[in-house]
Amino acid sequence: MDFFDVIKKRASIRSFKERLVSDDQVEQLLKAANSAPSAGNLQSYRILVIKNDDLKDKLVEAAHGQKFIGQAPVNFAFLRDIERAKSKYGERAELYSLQDGTIAATFLQLAAVDLGLGSCWVGSFIEDKVKEHLDTTKKPLAIIPVGYPAQRSRTDSARRELEEMVSFIE
Ligand SMILES: Cc1cc2nc3c(=O)[nH]c(=O)nc-3n(C[C@H](O)[C@H](O)[C@H](O)COP(=O)(O)O)c2cc1C
Repeated sequence: MDFFDVIKKRASIRSFKERLVSDDQVEQLLKAANSAPSAGNLQSYRILVIKNDDLKDKLVEAAHGQKFIGQAPVNFAFLRDIERAKSKYGERAELYSLQDGTIAATFLQLAAVDLGLGSCWVGSFIEDKVKEHLDTTKKPLAIIPVGYPAQRSRTDSARRELEEMVSFIE
């Protein structure tokens, strides 16, 4: 798919078919995330691939009942690895590790579109509960449920006018 078509087609998908996402597709998604830029090329994040139904149910609860997390055949949890960034960047590590992880998650979302899959960024969750369920001390940045869309992709979400947020500095 043409890159700008991918951008245009991406929209938050909150309803998924039962159809599974193959291991090959999961690998392609992870490779896309892995190709994202990162500060010093340190890739200061971790990705957890979640297919287990019990764990998905726990994440639904931790994410205030967002049921589509449980409906998606696979979820990707992106965690910040601040310690890795600190090895090189001191006080910039907090920002860099957050950026590294979120850019990688974005790459994964765009790759999903190209594979005919849909996804949604989930950021609304109780952090401590997610950490507990994922058995980690690392900060969860986003949960990305991925699957075959069971809804038409809404690509017409309103956006602010560019003039509202862009300034050209001559
Ligand atoms: C940081 C962040 C957190 C978000 N959290 C949620 C969430 O918890 N649940 C949800 O359904 N959508 C969530 N979204 C998706 C946004 O609602 C969505 O991207 C926005 O409304 C624009 O719609 P679009 O993605 O279809 O273009 C989140 C997006 C971002 C970037």
